[in-house]
Amino acid sequence: MTDRVIRLTDAGRAQPLPPERLDGPARGPSAHGTAVRDTRARPLRDLRISVTDRCNFRCTYCMPREVFGSDHRFLPHAQLLTFEEITRLARIFVDQGVRKIRLTGGEPLLRRNVERLVEMLAGLGDVDLTLTTNGSLLAKKAAALRDAGLKRITVSLDSLDERVFRAMNDADFPVARVLEGIAAAEAAGLAPIKINTVVKRGVNDQDIVGMARHFKGSGRIVRFIEFMDVGATNGWRMDDVVPSAEVVARIDAEMPLVPVDPAYPGEVAERWRYRDGSGEIGVISSVTQAFCRDCTRVRLSTEGMVYTCLFATTGFDLRALVRGDAGDDAIASAIGRIWRARADRYSEIRTAETAGRRKIEMSYIGG
Ligand code: GTP
Ligand code: 5AD
Ligand code: SF4
Ligand code: SF4
Repeated sequence: MTDRVIRLTDAGRAQPLPPERLDGPARGPSAHGTAVRDTRARPLRDLRISVTDRCNFRCTYCMPREVFGSDHRFLPHAQLLTFEEITRLARIFVDQGVRKIRLTGGEPLLRRNVERLVEMLAGLGDVDLTLTTNGSLLAKKAAALRDAGLKRITVSLDSLDERVFRAMNDADFPVARVLEGIAAAEAAGLAPIKINTVVKRGVNDQDIVGMARHFKGSGRIVRFIEFMDVGATNGWRMDDVVPSAEVVARIDAEMPLVPVDPAYPGEVAERWRYRDGSGEIGVISSVTQAFCRDCTRVRLSTEGMVYTCLFATTGFDLRALVRGDAGDDAIASAIGRIWRARADRYSEIRTAETAGRRKIEMSYIGG
């Protein structure tokens, strides 16, 4: 192993499972009818599953090429959870109260036969099953994903300006191919389609209004995301963050907006609709307006680590349980204990010091 590999996986090292509590049930909601809650009374609702740590883009804010270069070692195949292992864990999470499953990466569509995994997860029943992609393989895969049971999809697109987009993805990938992917997703019936735009001051903030205008009236929902201090390699500085309030003000000045109530409790994006009725946008303000209070998200990494926060420095090794002889009850008990012990609220306590910590990488845990 090179130092580089140690540094990234080191930040994701396992911590021991919380002990059994004498005063609490070992099992979660399936046994007791109530959702498992963490130390801040937040229920477990959303499971984000990273299916690969690889990506064909090198977005400067996520996988800077200087760090994720040709000598970077990704996880070896034997370490990845198989589709059967992922589905088994997902079923147990659903028993613990999870109602939304989002597949992420790296770039999830790079995982071979990912549509087979979608099909297996779709069999879990009444779950909002979705996926976040960079769109590069979507034109090819949209119909198969829909046939496999995917319901909706989110596509990242940071700019419609060819020069700006190619520089941000640092893979010389053209805007038109992502737009083709979005069109294919729409034709396949994946709806609603959301577009994620990470905003960096001085890089793509001049495109905010153009981006909103382009998708206005299309039924696609653009969400502008504040550049976050995820991981430890993206050179984050507060100066590069465009506060969401400024994004809303800039769009509102040209196309008037009114606020909309959240679609569900704990929604990440704050919603705004156009006064003229031609659709909505969202802003995701992890830096200027933390939304930890209602955070119901748990993250499962490609090789089976569980993280209770996007900004975690350590996780819990579920693969060891899955590949040991733990039964479903023992795994359910572990998940219940992990969630009940959870106290994360990173975005509420972010400082210059925390921003510099060795946190897990976004490309490893999938946002
Ligand atoms: P919906 O299910 O459509 O509401 O999607 P979502 O907004 O939960 O998911 P998506 O993957 O599109 O997330 C949008 C952005 O918000 C990504 O950049 C995520 O990294 C970021 N994000 C999602 N969840 C969290 C979170 O719990 N904390 C922080 N800080 N950021 C998050
Ligand atoms: N800040 C904000 N959003 C980010 N994403 C990746 N890295 C960052 C960052 N540093 C976004 C991607 C994608 C989603 C999963 O996370 O653009 O839409
Ligand atoms: Fe890849 Fe998404 Fe990270 Fe960009 S943001 S490098 S597309 S995983
Ligand atoms: Fe949840 Fe952590 Fe994000 Fe706060 S910073 S919303 S606790 S994932």
